[in-house]
Amino acid sequence: MKKNTKLYETVAALMASGKGILAADESDATAGKRLAMVHLPNEPENRQDFREILFTAPDVEKYLSGVIMYDSSIKNFTDDGIPFPDVLLAKGIVPGIKVDLGTVDLHGFKGEVVTEGLDGLASRLKEYYDLGARFAKWRAVITIDEDEIPTDASIAMNSILLARYAQIAQAEGIVPMVEPEVIYAGDHSLEKAELVTTRTLQIMFQTLMTYKVDLEGLILKSSMVLAGDMYPEQSTPEQVANATLRTFHMSVPHNVGGIVFLSGGQTPKRATENLNAIASLGEQPWPITFSYSRAIEEPFLQAWGGKPENIAKAQEMLLYACEMNSLASLGRYDSVADAKLK
Ligand code: G3H
Repeated sequence: MKKNTKLYETVAALMASGKGILAADESDATAGKRLAMVHLPNEPENRQDFREILFTAPDVEKYLSGVIMYDSSIKNFTDDGIPFPDVLLAKGIVPGIKVDLGTVDLHGFKGEVVTEGLDGLASRLKEYYDLGARFAKWRAVITIDEDEIPTDASIAMNSILLARYAQIAQAEGIVPMVEPEVIYAGDHSLEKAELVTTRTLQIMFQTLMTYKVDLEGLILKSSMVLAGDMYPEQSTPEQVANATLRTFHMSVPHNVGGIVFLSGGQTPKRATENLNAIASLGEQPWPITFSYSRAIEEPFLQAWGGKPENIAKAQEMLLYACEMNSLASLGRYDSVADAKLK
């Protein structure tokens, strides 16, 4: 198969050392939950403000290589009429787009879901490419619950959908960011999370290879491996780092273009500490960095509070959170000295 070297250029730009990717790709409904944190109604103008303040923040390009947007934001503009993707491109940040359309129940498999969004995907990607997008994210959801969940059947179905999406994206010159999110919420142990994440990634990569997805032109977006949020004993950064890297070494082929982490509901500080612990274990076969939504946006939202007079302060906080995660991706974050991330 002829290789598309443009994909590798995009991967290299996204995985640039010391940089990470902001996931500002909430659906309109989820963006409403973020706005509710600052007591703003979920209206288009408020969603526009939220994204405009994020994307125009001075100097974020020092720490961000990419930003993932949602359909309504990639087509949106600043108050001055500049398309959001152009704002990012002017800063040298690669625009990305979430292309899945969310999950539905997997019939016959209580508690498990599959992701929709393949219909018309090629033409949507063409449109996004023309708007400037060079990578796209698809999220599958893997829940840990009791002994049988996740089933191999649901992992296999989600893997096929991820493989088909990745094929279509690569054919359109867009780097697929494949995200099989193993959900942090729950009362499962660290060992269980490791087992499930390893199994999920093994099945998914086997499927991606079966369908001839070019792994060098692909980025894995993964959960960190840690005990569920309701498990009595929370995992330490060292435990998370060891379990996560053991998992990757058991399941991620070495030619995968890069690995980025979602924050998954961890506090901003914890997500940063855990990334730092992972990076502290030394060089790995893949570049590894962050691609957080909540862990970066929460401190920003708290500083903003939905008030115009706080915009500069909020942008400084955004920059700070990105800088701390940049340091963490290099194993240079000093958690004790950081009094700002909570
Ligand atoms: O799909 C999830 C997002 O890309 C990452 O969000 O960091 O809040 O888990 P999160």
